[in-house]
Amino acid sequence: MYLNIINALLVQRDLWTVGVLMREWHEDLFRHSILTADLAVSVARRLGFSDIDVELARLAGFLHDFGKVTWPKELVAKHPLDSEDWQIVKVHPIVGARLAKEKAPNLSLVVLRVVEEHHERDGDGYPRGLQASDLHPLSRVVACVECFVALLEERPYRPCRLTYEQILRQISLNGFDWAVVDALQKAIMSEDIKDKNNFFTCVKDQTPPPGGQGQFSLSGGSDQTPRQPSPQDQPGAFPGGGVTAGTPAS
Ligand SMILES: [Fe+2]
Ligand SMILES: [Fe+2]
Repeated sequence: MYLNIINALLVQRDLWTVGVLMREWHEDLFRHSILTADLAVSVARRLGFSDIDVELARLAGFLHDFGKVTWPKELVAKHPLDSEDWQIVKVHPIVGARLAKEKAPNLSLVVLRVVEEHHERDGDGYPRGLQASDLHPLSRVVACVECFVALLEERPYRPCRLTYEQILRQISLNGFDWAVVDALQKAIMSEDIKDKNNFFTCVKDQTPPPGGQGQFSLSGGSDQTPRQPSPQDQPGAFPGGGVTAGTPAS
């Protein structure tokens, strides 16, 4: 088990190369990847995944947006995107998996699959529009975690003004797995993230939400109603739910 993603990078030379490429492309991409990796670990543990699966979640969290290194840098700050931009955006999960395999040939197939599926939602994601039931359980974890981290981050076209509570509520309305949202909320509130201040303040120019720091609840803070649990949220979808999600062939 690695202590954190930096530790994993130091041990695996291929991953180090990938990390360097992401950091060279954009500092924000590198930071987003590290935060996603470490939070994905906390969430996967809470969902009862095996130690091996937790490590796969860490790697997939780190690599999920590797495909962005092929984007023109202007795309980071561009808003709104035109149809040509969207063509590029929509294939970054596939491009990322292909590039990751090229740079780190020994990577688990599960990690590559999660990279490919990290923007899939329950039928309305991309690139393939897969149903939730067709996604790898770790894809559902990384998709939710990376979205939470992204919403915490400031963008040139979107200053971060949402409270953590509002972000969790938004996520709960957007087709993510209910059990994962619940585990994410608990991970953020818990001691899993030892240095919460460091975790959140390393998100660029994060303005602490008034009264929001450290107060998480899916109730209140918004006039929207959280999504009700759906059939895909049934117990058993994750290891902690009573059925082994399995450690698919790596
Ligand atoms: Fe992405
Ligand atoms: Fe991402």
